[in-house]
Amino acid sequence: LPDAEVFVVSNREPYIHNRVGDRIVVQRPASGLVSALEPVMRACGGVWVAHGSGSADRETVDAEDHVAVPPGKPAYRLRRVWISDEEQEGYYYGLANEGLWPLCHLAYVRPIFREADWQHYVAVNQRFADAVVREATRPDPVIMVQDYHFALLPRMIREQLPKATILTFWHIPWPNAEAFGICPWKEEIIAGLLGSTVLGFHTQAHCNNFFETVDRFMESRIDRDHRSVVFGGEETMVRPYPISIEWPPAALASQQPVEVCRAAVRERFGLPAEMRIGVGIERFDYTKGILDRLQAIDELLTRQPEWKGRFTFLQIVAPTRSKLASYTALQAEAIRITEEVNARHGREGYQPIHLVIRHHEPDEVYELFRAADVCVVSSLHDGMNLVAKEFVAARDDEQGALVLSRFAGASSELSEALIINPYDVQGMAEALGRALVMREDEQRERMRLMRAHVRERNVYRWAGQILLDASRLRKRQRVQE
Ligand code: G6P
Repeated sequence: LPDAEVFVVSNREPYIHNRVGDRIVVQRPASGLVSALEPVMRACGGVWVAHGSGSADRETVDAEDHVAVPPGKPAYRLRRVWISDEEQEGYYYGLANEGLWPLCHLAYVRPIFREADWQHYVAVNQRFADAVVREATRPDPVIMVQDYHFALLPRMIREQLPKATILTFWHIPWPNAEAFGICPWKEEIIAGLLGSTVLGFHTQAHCNNFFETVDRFMESRIDRDHRSVVFGGEETMVRPYPISIEWPPAALASQQPVEVCRAAVRERFGLPAEMRIGVGIERFDYTKGILDRLQAIDELLTRQPEWKGRFTFLQIVAPTRSKLASYTALQAEAIRITEEVNARHGREGYQPIHLVIRHHEPDEVYELFRAADVCVVSSLHDGMNLVAKEFVAARDDEQGALVLSRFAGASSELSEALIINPYDVQGMAEALGRALVMREDEQRERMRLMRAHVRERNVYRWAGQILLDASRLRKRQRVQE
């Protein structure tokens, strides 16, 4: 990006400053969006505009609400935007996470749309648009708008900076037109997104759903040849860009050899040396298929009791959006099922499932990945799922089996994983059993292919492809003028 002025805008910030007693602790949030974009910003520099959500965030910014990050090794600036508690209720918990999140994930959690939430959503989008415009020192910055929190932002920015290159990425699925049609503000949301130069989704299927939605609800022209939409005289390219991770991942650099990681994890959980280890690591979210996974473990131990005392599952969950009833209900249910399975199959000195509910920093996550015989990703619906890619990246020993949901975008790339349908508990249990007896050479062969894929299709390539498409569109527009 020679001399371009680059911005990323997202709700979640890459570094959260929290006060713990008289110390300030920096936290890296559990967010696929952040894991993907952070290395890109470290590489190109610029300004990341995000919600200041930490308890010590205000103390750590300068007079312009900036803080240089990463701490200790600054590569770009984080510009924090402040949101009141009331706005956070409406914009983040309400419209974004009780409305758009279940709407797009088709997770059988009924989306809730409240007029007051929508008003906060509009207001917060406007606040971020104004913040970006104030930050820009040139009329033609490159602005990378991230996710469903900011559907209105592209158009709001476009109105004030008509020459900006606006690259919007939707990190979650886009449902079909009929499903999206229940959103009371569908036209506003689509018109907002069509302020972008390029609009990206993870898969072609999501792009097709978006085209279908535009076709159904908007007065616009869909240009199938150029894979774009012309709306209000402006063209937006709509393309799939499967998101990825940095390669090699920064968190891998500080890791011990696999054997050392295994020993450390065994010691932490009090596991004997011969115990096989399964892991699941994610936010405590109802889209991740955690309950179904726990049931599959129950099924495995019932059908193949020889695994009792020889297989333990470490389910690591980061608390998330806990104010919402749909999330607290999930947490209670997961605890209940875990206790039930442990009571049914456990015995003195053997606990089949360890449910650990706390945030883990990337170093700890990578250590767990390296200690595991099998990693399970059983999302009921997921845009991409970077946990699957991180597990593969963590295994430079080319060992370990990945059980992966066919409803995660990652399954169309990591086809050497054991692909499962998480709604089919029996099938998932069988796949788990298969993973546990997979021969080392088969693990190696599958792992090699998956690692080669993630290495090549890393997040720098993802960002590069979006920028390339944007510059092509710009050139075409200039020629046409
Ligand atoms: C998903 C969303 C991201 C979000 C992340 C964590 O990956 O696509 O936008 O940052 O979940 O969720 P949270 O609400 O904690 O930011």
